[in-house]
Amino acid sequence: MGENTYRFGMVGLGVMGRNFLLNIADNDFSAIGLDNDPEKANALEQEASSGHRIKGVTSSEVFVRLLETPRTIMLLVPAGKIVDDVIEGLIPYLDKGDLIIDGGNSHFSDTERREKSLREKGLHFLGIGVSGGAEGARRGPSIMPGGSRDAYPRVKSILEAVAAKVDGEPCVSYLGPKASGHYVKMVHNGIEYAMMQLISEAYDLLHRGAGLSVDELAAVFKGYNERKLKSFLVEITASIFTKKDDLDEEIYLIDRILDKGKQKGTGKWTSQHALDLGIPIPTIDAAVTMRQLSALREDREMAADLADRPKLEETRADKAIMINAVEDALFFGFIASYSQGMALLQAAGSEMNLGMNLEVVAKIWRGGCIIRAAMLEDIMKAYRKDPGLSNLMMDPHLSNEMERCASAAREMIMFGTRRGIPLAGLTSAMWYFDAFHTSRLPMSLVQAQRDYFGAHTFERTDRSGTFHAEWY
Ligand code: 6PG
Repeated sequence: MGENTYRFGMVGLGVMGRNFLLNIADNDFSAIGLDNDPEKANALEQEASSGHRIKGVTSSEVFVRLLETPRTIMLLVPAGKIVDDVIEGLIPYLDKGDLIIDGGNSHFSDTERREKSLREKGLHFLGIGVSGGAEGARRGPSIMPGGSRDAYPRVKSILEAVAAKVDGEPCVSYLGPKASGHYVKMVHNGIEYAMMQLISEAYDLLHRGAGLSVDELAAVFKGYNERKLKSFLVEITASIFTKKDDLDEEIYLIDRILDKGKQKGTGKWTSQHALDLGIPIPTIDAAVTMRQLSALREDREMAADLADRPKLEETRADKAIMINAVEDALFFGFIASYSQGMALLQAAGSEMNLGMNLEVVAKIWRGGCIIRAAMLEDIMKAYRKDPGLSNLMMDPHLSNEMERCASAAREMIMFGTRRGIPLAGLTSAMWYFDAFHTSRLPMSLVQAQRDYFGAHTFERTDRSGTFHAEWY
C-alpha cells in the first residue's frame, strides 16, 4: 500500500457517508472522503479517532489521484439522478478495473442499468444495501451487496470488518449479480414498513383500546422485547414511550408528534414490483396505504365529526388480557410480514436470476439492520432445511407458531373492528393467512362471472382443459 494513497474512497460525507467511512478507518483501512462542502470534508478529519489514516477533500481530481489502484469508490448520496451525476463526474478520472459502489437506497432498476453500462466501460459496479441508520453505519450496519462478483473479493474484508456481528459472524455476504443487493434492501424496507405499521396498531389497541398510559406502554413493550418479539423495532418503541417533550417535561413526546406518515418510497417500490410479479404482499401494501391515508390529515380532521364513532372509554377491556393477546397478535403479524417479503424475494430471485440464497439473507438481517429480530434465527433455519421453500408459512415450526397465535390475533381484530380502531396491517396478515390456508377460495365465482360477461373461459375441478359455458 502506498504511503500517500488511500485504500477506500467515499463520495458524500453526509451523516451516513461520514459514519460509514469513520467505521472503515476505525478498522484500520485508510480512507478518503469527497464532498463539495468543505465543512463536511473538514469535519471528517476532526471526528476520526486518533491513529487512523483518514482524509477529507473537495476535489474529484485530488480524490481519485489519492486512491490506491485499482480504485474502490463508494457513493452514499441521495438516490436518484445525483447517483448518475456523481458517476458521470468521476468517470473521466477512472481507469479500467476500478470499482464503484452505490450504498444508497437506489431503485433496483437503476442499479441494473448502471451495472450494465459501467461493465461495458470496463468498470466494476456493486449496488449495496446498507441498513441500520446513522448509528448502524458508525458501529456496524447490515450490508447487502450485489453486482460484480469479480470485484467483490476486493472489498470483502473491509465490509466484513465494518458490518454488525452476530455470534462473531459479520452481517454481510455477497448476494448475487446485478441488482440483488438493492433488491434485497428494498424488500427489507417493505418488511420494515409492515412491522412498523403492526407495532403502531398494537400501540393503538393498547393505548386507545385498553387505556394503557404511555408509562405502562413503555413497560409493556420492554417486556415484549424480552420474549419472542425481541427485535430492534420493539426495543426502540419501548424507548420512545419513555421520552418526554423538551418543551414540556409533563408531556410525553409521542403525544405531541403529528400523526402524518412520511415515506421516501422504498415501501411503495416493494408493493409496485410485487404487483408486477404477481406476488401477494398485503401487509406491506397496507403499511404503504396507511402512510398515505394518514397523510390526508385535513380530510381526516373534517371527517372525524361526520360519523358517530364508537366510544372507546366506555368499552375498555381487561389490560392484562389485552397485553398478552396483543403480544401474540403482533408476533402473528411479524411472521406474516417476513413470509410476504421472503416470498417476494424467492419469486424475484428466480424470475430475474438474482441468485439470492434466502438463508443467507435471513442470516445477514440478524444484526445491524432495522428489521433485526430474534425470530430471524427460525427463518434462517427454515431455509436451511428447505432452500426452495416458497412461503415461510409452510415451514412446520413457523406454521405452528402462527396457528398458536391466530386466535389472539382474531380476538384483537374483532376487538378493534367493533371499536373502530383501524387495523389494516393485522387484518391483512389474517386474511393472507386464511386465504393461504384454504384449498377453496370463492374465486370460482369470479371466474364464472368473467366467462359470463366476456367469454374469458375457466378451468374445471373435474377435467383438464379450458371451458366456456353458454350462460344465457
Ligand atoms: C435502514 C432504513 C433506511 C431509512 C428508510 C426510511 O434500513 O436503515 O430502512 O434505509 O431509514 O429508507 O424510509 P422511509 O423514509 O420511506 O420511511
